[in-house]
Amino acid sequence: MIKYSFLTPQAASEINLNELNVLIAQLTSSPVKHNLASFRRFLNQPGLFQLAAFTDQRLVGLASLFVIRKIEIKVGLVEGVVVDEEYRRQGIGTKMMKMLIEKARQIGVRHLDLTSHPARVAANRLYLRLGFRPRQTNLYRLDL
Ligand SMILES: CC(C)(COP(=O)(O)OP(=O)(O)OC[C@H]1O[C@@H](n2cnc3c(N)ncnc32)[C@H](O)[C@@H]1OP(=O)(O)O)[C@@H](O)C(=O)NCCC(=O)NCCS
Repeated sequence: MIKYSFLTPQAASEINLNELNVLIAQLTSSPVKHNLASFRRFLNQPGLFQLAAFTDQRLVGLASLFVIRKIEIKVGLVEGVVVDEEYRRQGIGTKMMKMLIEKARQIGVRHLDLTSHPARVAANRLYLRLGFRPRQTNLYRLDL
């Protein structure tokens, strides 16, 4: 059975950092390795709702909602959605996304934004299935 919870900064010490770093490595080609202090700092930031999925105490999924108060409205950014390879296609990604959407609704977020590279076939299908639609806008980045 899978259990889902939003992590508080105090809960950082209950997370197995090896499992955390293994998951992050499945999300990005240039992963960072968290230690307890850096993970606590991450969880401590304002506006973050960090969801985690566990099976038998093992961390198998992560998804972040960042709530941003723009000058006119409150919006949400979904980031860091990942499910451990061994646990995919069991509905964990869908469940985490639905929980983030519900959380965003509860706190008055007007809309949720996310980006996903077209090569991420599973992720793109998942987001489309949940009702996310492509936006026509230019996406810019300044590397610093
Ligand atoms: C995207 C991801 C989180 C989905 O997690 P998951 O727990 O497997 O998702 P679900 O079981 O809820 O499946 C949701 C849908 O994703 C799609 N999907 C899942 N695995 C797929 C695959 N290998 N190929 C194509 N579509 C796939 C399907 O549409 C699936 O629904 P279906 O089973 O009804 O067809 C997971 O594949 C993952 O961690 N990928 C690597 C990291 C990543 O790309 N993150 C997204 C960053 S934007």
